[in-house]
Amino acid sequence: MSLRIGDTAPDFKADTTTGAIQFHDWIGTDWAFFFSHPADFTPVCTTEMGRTAQLAEQFASRGVKPIGLSTDTVAEHVKWIEDVNDTQHTTLRFPIVADADLKIAKLYDMIHPNESETAAVRSVFIIDPDKKIRLTMTYPMNVGRNFDEILRVIDALQTADKFKIATPADWVPGQDVIIPPSVSDADAAKSFPQGFETIRPYLRKVSL
Ligand code: BEZ
Repeated sequence: MSLRIGDTAPDFKADTTTGAIQFHDWIGTDWAFFFSHPADFTPVCTTEMGRTAQLAEQFASRGVKPIGLSTDTVAEHVKWIEDVNDTQHTTLRFPIVADADLKIAKLYDMIHPNESETAAVRSVFIIDPDKKIRLTMTYPMNVGRNFDEILRVIDALQTADKFKIATPADWVPGQDVIIPPSVSDADAAKSFPQGFETIRPYLRKVSL
């Protein structure tokens, strides 16, 4: 069965490039960006791994730990990381899960048999400190992910949690946010003493 937003991310034990982990313990009190890719030593994956490594400070400043997965071994991952570092001009420090027996890929529904019976598609799970899945995205094997969007959606989730708001289309930090319809005008006035704009009774915007 596929995993849904709000589900508890399944826990697992795995060997990774930084040692054995128990997933929930490894997440600890942080957020996780758990992403699969089809295979080591492939071009799109190499750019994605490099980009994730280059963005290490961006993830850390948001309290997010990246962790990759493919259905290869630790030895293969370790050898490939040398290529990633070399070709993408970075130093990859986050763990990559070795899932040669597909156990975790199947647990997370990362194997889409019409694409491949043995390699994972490009799945993304953003997991919060309560181990709840807060976002899922699935990209095909031949399309690299947009890491600006991954950071943007983490910002949106964390801002939504902090201020109990929602974010409009294409929102980026600094722009106005939306007061959810479940919040009355009276409560909105208490939460947002700076005032808010009512465009329609169901569409109210506020600057944070
Ligand atoms: C790649 O990472 O370049 C790739 C991997 C599997 C299928 C297609 C592309």
